[in-house]
Amino acid sequence: MRQDHLISATQLSRADIEAVLDRAAEIDADPSAWQGRHEGSILGLCFFEPSTRTRMSFDTAMKRLGGRTIDMGAVESSSVKKGETLADTMRVLEGYADALVLRHPSEGSAKMATEFVDVPLINAGDGAGQHPTQTLLDLYTMRQNVGLDDVTVGIMGDLKYGRTVHSLASALTNFDTRQHFVSPESLRLPRSVRYDLHESGAQVREHTALDDVLSELDILYVTRIQRERFPDENEYLKVAGEYQISADDLRAAKDSLTVMHPLPRVDEIAPDVDHTAHATYFEQAHNGVPVRMALLDMLLSEGEDE
Ligand code: NCD
Repeated sequence: MRQDHLISATQLSRADIEAVLDRAAEIDADPSAWQGRHEGSILGLCFFEPSTRTRMSFDTAMKRLGGRTIDMGAVESSSVKKGETLADTMRVLEGYADALVLRHPSEGSAKMATEFVDVPLINAGDGAGQHPTQTLLDLYTMRQNVGLDDVTVGIMGDLKYGRTVHSLASALTNFDTRQHFVSPESLRLPRSVRYDLHESGAQVREHTALDDVLSELDILYVTRIQRERFPDENEYLKVAGEYQISADDLRAAKDSLTVMHPLPRVDEIAPDVDHTAHATYFEQAHNGVPVRMALLDMLLSEGEDE
């Protein structure tokens, strides 16, 4: 890795991504070999927004490497409730841990926090911004199932507020992929993300109907409409439930189609898809552990060399 902090998927070159995925594959092949590797190291978990998978898989990953975790806990029970700024919280926590994981509702918060900490900081989601570690486990899952070159990927749902989408779309430009974005007009990719994709020369198309591209796809990455990010609940209600798939809807898809979702899902993938060979989202969630182990190992080892 070139940087100590992982804030955005735009930081990651193809070589960086492959280094993490290769290490994750080594860990997957023989998890016990990594058990005591970071004994004595402490990872600080600072989640200012709800999380199940990201928080718990970081926790598991650190413990499987022999390290320990400290958790800020719910915002309600921390000094944030007393009005402490993010900058002060981070300045304090960097003295307690060897690396920090931050999730925060404000876009740009993770980048801002790097100004106050010297230990490696990992962005676990900054508002509607970025979620680069989700992207690493998404890419790991894609590589295992269909490979990362010469693949056609459909990304559907809330492309405007979905931070996993923003990170994934930019990381995929490192590979030979065709990207199809499917969403209601009001939830298109933000202009800045579209601009970056265009600049990178990525092969990108936008659609409002899945049926226009479904039969071409190797991967369909479905996302939740990010209700909590809508400034107006009525705007959410206008698009809620519009982009859902059932097993029946997938009849026109390739037999080999891999359906992914960062989870949690609400109603965008019907439970009957779970029983098809397409469903890969639970495997994807499990991949969070080896991939985050690989990333932590690399960031913590880098610190040791200095
Ligand atoms: C995602 C997130 O927090 O952005 N969840 C996750 O980390 N797996 C997706 C979502 O909340 O919809």
